[in-house]
Amino acid sequence: MPTTTTTVLLFLLLIHLTITTPSPIPGLDTFLSHRSTVDPSSTNDSFPSLPSSLKKSLSLSSPHPHIPSLISSLLSLTLPLSLHIRLVGSSFPSDSSSLLQTFLSTAHISDHFHVITTDSHRLSIKHSPHLEVSHAGSTLSSRLSEALKSSISESTSSLRSPLLSIPYNTVDRIIKQDFDREKPVQGVYVYLINLGSQSKNYAYSYSEGDSSPGFTKCLGTIWTGKERYLWIDLSAGPVDYGPAISGDGVLPRGEFHPLTAMHGRPKSHKALLADLASLIWNAYQVLLVPSLRIPVHFQNSLIVEFIHIYGSGSGKDLSGLDWKEIEKTFMDEANEGGLLLRNQNLAFRKYEVNYDQCSICSFAISRSINSYTSRFLFDNYTLIVSEYLDSKRLHQILSDSAEEFRRMAGTPEEDFSRVLPVYVFDLDYNTLLMLDRYHQSVAFRDMVIAVRTKTTQTVSDYSCNGRHMFTHTRVLERPLVGSILQSMWGVSPTHLSWSPRHNNTLVDYTWSVGQTPFGPFSEISSLSFVQKDAARRNVLLTSLNYSISSVIDVLESIIAHGGDRKLLKQNQHVQFIQRWNLFKYKLDKAISAMSHKDFDMALYYLRSSDHDMYAIHSLVYHASQELEASLVCFKDPPFPWGSVSMSAVVFFALVYVYSKRESLFRNKRKQF
Ligand SMILES: *[C@@H]1O[C@H](CO)[C@@H](O)[C@H](O)[C@H]1NC(C)=O
Ligand SMILES: *[C@@H]1O[C@H](CO)[C@@H](O)[C@H](O)[C@H]1NC(C)=O
Ligand SMILES: *[C@@H]1O[C@H](CO)[C@@H](O)[C@H](O)[C@H]1NC(C)=O
Ligand SMILES: *[C@@H]1O[C@H](CO)[C@@H](O)[C@H](O)[C@H]1NC(C)=O
Repeated sequence: MPTTTTTVLLFLLLIHLTITTPSPIPGLDTFLSHRSTVDPSSTNDSFPSLPSSLKKSLSLSSPHPHIPSLISSLLSLTLPLSLHIRLVGSSFPSDSSSLLQTFLSTAHISDHFHVITTDSHRLSIKHSPHLEVSHAGSTLSSRLSEALKSSISESTSSLRSPLLSIPYNTVDRIIKQDFDREKPVQGVYVYLINLGSQSKNYAYSYSEGDSSPGFTKCLGTIWTGKERYLWIDLSAGPVDYGPAISGDGVLPRGEFHPLTAMHGRPKSHKALLADLASLIWNAYQVLLVPSLRIPVHFQNSLIVEFIHIYGSGSGKDLSGLDWKEIEKTFMDEANEGGLLLRNQNLAFRKYEVNYDQCSICSFAISRSINSYTSRFLFDNYTLIVSEYLDSKRLHQILSDSAEEFRRMAGTPEEDFSRVLPVYVFDLDYNTLLMLDRYHQSVAFRDMVIAVRTKTTQTVSDYSCNGRHMFTHTRVLERPLVGSILQSMWGVSPTHLSWSPRHNNTLVDYTWSVGQTPFGPFSEISSLSFVQKDAARRNVLLTSLNYSISSVIDVLESIIAHGGDRKLLKQNQHVQFIQRWNLFKYKLDKAISAMSHKDFDMALYYLRSSDHDMYAIHSLVYHASQELEASLVCFKDPPFPWGSVSMSAVVFFALVYVYSKRESLFRNKRKQF
């Protein structure tokens, strides 16, 4: 009996810790959730229709605020994310879960969200994992064991690879069933599978068919689901993939990488679990709280414009450039409720430009061509000169001549939408020509550029399990999907993250096999939960960061005026308290909704909090105007002119942003 009580108490405590519960004001929740059904995009401010009893509770909930602590309460907003770790297989001794839990809790992994491409990489919001480790039932592991054994006996070994290739679906369909039984889930499930060694070494293949001389299929040991789960088969492999020679992102060979924790010299139980803890830590960083590629602002209408610049020689050979397939990748997700937020819509348009009739096109290409030399050993050492396109220069020329391109392609001027032009240069060259030597497609903040020539393939600088990877240079669908995700939704490639410790972007290909549209090791263009969640979370994080920093500006200007009591008159002060409490309440609600992956609700609360943010700005601005006027009359003590004019600037900036929310983002887009 006492143990049950303790468990229940612990459970309640855990719930309390896991879910940021805003301080309860009776009736406010009901009021706001009612408003969210009446006015789901929060076009109108709901404050005037707030019952007076609620207003009263709002002003009583903290009548004497200490402004610096309000600021720190904004800066300490944390998004809790829950992570369920399931240990599958009898090879995990029964104390594994508690040991792993201990290792994980000692690693301090709560941190800020980061953006790769901005001036200040750190967002104000933090994230923190809430981990729960458990052993999966023996039914799951015996089903997996059976499936794996029969799959291994059916597969024939290949001369090309020391690893037997097993279709990933052998394991995935069983794991998916287990995951489905856990529904409804709010967090992410990580299955660590350890079934002991099998009769042969094996790894998972992610598509039909084997490797062939011009085509390397990369086998892996992981899978990230369409829904929020991933699994790692610790007994599979060892696999290695990464840059062929050396450089950033080489997956260390042998026993030092956590993905190969089960291979190599036998380890103590503890050492193994420590490795697993580091693997989970890495998965959390890369898959659950990935860095934003760029900040992305909310916009109702998203338009992707394919601009196909084709050479007349090759005609319009569309193999490898199937627009419908690219569109379908995104539309399928959008229709299933991933990728887009409520009321957002996504459209794809296609335009064509004949390269021979487009002088600016050939100008752009010829100005951007660069060359590099490399040494090859044939009979003797021979210097070979190869050409590539400088993507930055091409981007500059395309930006400068955007109007001319618009005219050539006949693209309409779009108002109130975010338009992403995707320039595809389909050239009649017979030589290889890639962007910055290695890329088929490059994503910029405001456009995507891709190029292909008549050459069909090249050996890339990457290798997988001892074999070189090939780039099929005419096949652009997958590279374009990856680039569009980066530019339109700020989703980072699976191998890139911002590391504040290194003050640099880190490259690590560990999670770049299986279901990811990024990187050279996968052939799959479909999105996993990682990209789908990131797409929506990125918009919310950008907006949340904007609200936080602009309210902090106001609070600082209150401090500069000598504090809230001095600046705000009685009735203004009451309203300020009410607005502030409502604002903070809505931010907490938004974060709680994000934590439960209810992104639409989070968007509602954020948009709704914009009204309070605006009201706070306006209150403080008017109060500072009055204070200024009274000081002019009395010519009393030295006055903080700087901060007054600062708050005026901030106010007008806000009024402007607020009134032109839609069109401002459009202008921002144009400036690049
Ligand atoms: C917002 O307010 C306007 C006028 O005040 C009103 O006409 C409109 O119906 C309101 N919209 C919603 C969704 O409540
Ligand atoms: C190197 O070999 C190429 C042909 O393979 C030949 O044309 C060239 O003259 C040789 N150069 C020297 C310096 O021997
Ligand atoms: C990070 O690097 C940038 C440029 O590479 C430099 O300007 C900045 O000062 C560095 N920041 C830190 C904290 O070292
Ligand atoms: C996020 O907010 C902080 C201040 O709170 C600001 O310094 C930073 O530039 C903002 N980042 C973005 C991407 O807006």
